[in-house]
Amino acid sequence: KTEDFIRRNLAGQKTKQAQSRRRMLEKLERLERPEDNWQLAGKISLRFQTGGDLGGKEIVRAPHITVGYPGKPILKDVTVNVFRGDRVGIVGPNGCGKSTLLKTLVGQLPPLEGTVERGVGVRLGYFDQKLDSLSEDRTAIEEIQSVRGDLSPEAVRSYLAKFRFFGDDPFRTVRGFSGGERSRLALAKMLLFPRNVLVLDEPTNHLDIPARETLEHALDDYEGTLIVVSHDRFFLDRICKRLLVFENDTLKAYLGNYSDWRRHRQEQDAAQATPDEKPVERIAPSSSELSRAAKKERERTQRRLERLVESLEAEIARIETELGELRAQLSADHKGDWQKLHALADRERELDDQLGRRMEDWEKASAELQAFLER
Ligand SMILES: Nc1ncnc2c1ncn2[C@@H]1O[C@H](COP(=O)(O)OP(=O)(O)OP(=O)(O)O)[C@@H](O)[C@H]1O
Ligand SMILES: [Mg+2]
Repeated sequence: KTEDFIRRNLAGQKTKQAQSRRRMLEKLERLERPEDNWQLAGKISLRFQTGGDLGGKEIVRAPHITVGYPGKPILKDVTVNVFRGDRVGIVGPNGCGKSTLLKTLVGQLPPLEGTVERGVGVRLGYFDQKLDSLSEDRTAIEEIQSVRGDLSPEAVRSYLAKFRFFGDDPFRTVRGFSGGERSRLALAKMLLFPRNVLVLDEPTNHLDIPARETLEHALDDYEGTLIVVSHDRFFLDRICKRLLVFENDTLKAYLGNYSDWRRHRQEQDAAQATPDEKPVERIAPSSSELSRAAKKERERTQRRLERLVESLEAEIARIETELGELRAQLSADHKGDWQKLHALADRERELDDQLGRRMEDWEKASAELQAFLER
């Protein structure tokens, strides 16, 4: 365990990379935010049901298709195959055709050439970036009832509460909804039925951080197949196992998460650049450029993060010591005292769990500190 801990620690140091400001802020916010309704709602249970049957081995088969609009091909002769249990992220610059590709894969848009086949038993949920499936004049309750007429208004309200529609919210019309509310309602609508394939087009765009976290949690546990378009690096890293990348008018497959891919790209770029073209090292703003107040605030945040990391390290050390002692007792002669042995074994499991959780916390906190220092 300790070795594991050290190894992870070292790996973390080596892969140090400049983190985007957004991600840093996001993480700090994640840390500081008091428990709110969304989290509570998440705890109540926001699980994405597959309905048991995960579908056949092949979910989508689209060999040599051309994707685009009549007279406007966007991707020519690309092959997309998605298998059961895949967790695919699709990335590319704005306007390159990610949404168009998703629409083609889900069957909302015919390919210009070739055919797209979806496996038997596929029950697909599609989250449209434009949220076109919502009607401006309907209330949240009516939206839900438009697909599940059998649910009573009361049942609908308690379902909507899981998506943080409380009090009067279920009675308001879509017209008055914010982007975040629209996204949450579209997700709520999509997840009324079990789905074994989720196709999500920038689902986190309008979501605030707690909502995003709840969605991430639900997707972590989701057992079906996932195809996700996102610009959210954190989200992609957590959710996707492989990528399809729009590059030079075509689609490239990459086995690995988003950070792996970025690193891979940077290495390639660095190898290609001639010596004097190599990227200039980023220079931190000098202290005089920061206002006094900003500087103070920065120091406070840094101290807070450092303290957090330190206290977690101390706790991990404490747990490891106790575990060591316990294991020594466990392997010593117990003289037939089974009750005592049981108690020791229980305590060992408990401590082991605790250790795992604290290590996760430590990993998060130190990544946060690192990102902060590299800002
Ligand atoms: N209905 C349409 N008819 C013709 N062209 C369209 C249509 N919808 C989108 N396009 C064009 O197709 C191209 C790809 O658009 P698409 O929305 O698929 O990109 P995207 O990668 O999803 O972009 P974003 O990152 O902004 O979501 C763009 O040039 C866009 O203007
Ligand atoms: Mg799009």
